[in-house]
Amino acid sequence: MEFKNLLFGLSNGILTITVNRPDKLNALNKLTVQEIGQAIQEAKANPEVKVIIITGSGVKGFVAGADISEFLGLSVEQGKVLAKTGQDVFKSIEDCPKPVIAAVNGFALGGGCELAMACHLRVASENAKFGQPEVNLGLIAGYGGTQRLIQLIGKTKAMELHLTGDMITAEQALFLGLVNYVVPQAELIPRCIEIAERIKSKSPKAVGGAIAAMNAYFAEGVDGYKAEIDEFGKCFSSEDFKEGTSAFLEKRKPNFTGK
Ligand code: COA
Repeated sequence: MEFKNLLFGLSNGILTITVNRPDKLNALNKLTVQEIGQAIQEAKANPEVKVIIITGSGVKGFVAGADISEFLGLSVEQGKVLAKTGQDVFKSIEDCPKPVIAAVNGFALGGGCELAMACHLRVASENAKFGQPEVNLGLIAGYGGTQRLIQLIGKTKAMELHLTGDMITAEQALFLGLVNYVVPQAELIPRCIEIAERIKSKSPKAVGGAIAAMNAYFAEGVDGYKAEIDEFGKCFSSEDFKEGTSAFLEKRKPNFTGK
């Protein structure tokens, strides 16, 4: 598929996806959401991709939200379809067995904050700002933001951010546990690559299993402990498990293949 609003870079198994609408602070129009969904599917299927980094073009915006210019005139039903489509794409990021790291290089507002939250890890540059400002528009978050912000930082602060629409700084986001690290802008991608390299040296099977088991904690009607048992059990059939345990016993570094 041709991509209009995304840029790609694949190096050493690390795929960087850049949302590229800098003149709109990388706001997510419908096409961009669709393209992100497609890019994740393709990255999942591509054996060369081990870890994914999602970032925004330029130094000012990660993603400044859903594209507000597409909102006017939508009916209730169309609004619901918009939210469902966005939620499905962001869920596909969350459920991706390959780790997805958000490199938050600027404004992460509304759908941008939701996109970052759907990723498994978040690294922010010092100038990044987070927020769910939808109430300013007479709206609420629709791409999973009311749910994931509570999961990540708890109801007390999540309520405050959704009800006031206030933005918070990267440092505040770090304090709240919304991001893993805050670094100077120039170090943002290098730090994400460093983390990606560390994860890349582990068993892809085990990494995918850990993601699935942890996601089960939040899945409705799913017993997370049971999911952990299943994922744990599955590891025993993998080549990676044999390689990891043999390497430990033979006092050498494991060479995981993801099989
Ligand atoms: N949807 C559509 N366009 C957006 C956008 C969005 N969510 N966020 C920014 N843009 C556009 C602006 O309209 C502007 O376009 P223009 O130059 O054609 O007028 C361009 O991006 C640059 O934004 P601008 O507002 O001029 O930059 P700023 O530095 O003054 O302000 C923000 C930055 C992020 C504070 C401001 O753009 C903003 O509040 N954006 C909306 C955030 C939001 O409500 N997101 C949730 C949407 S549900």
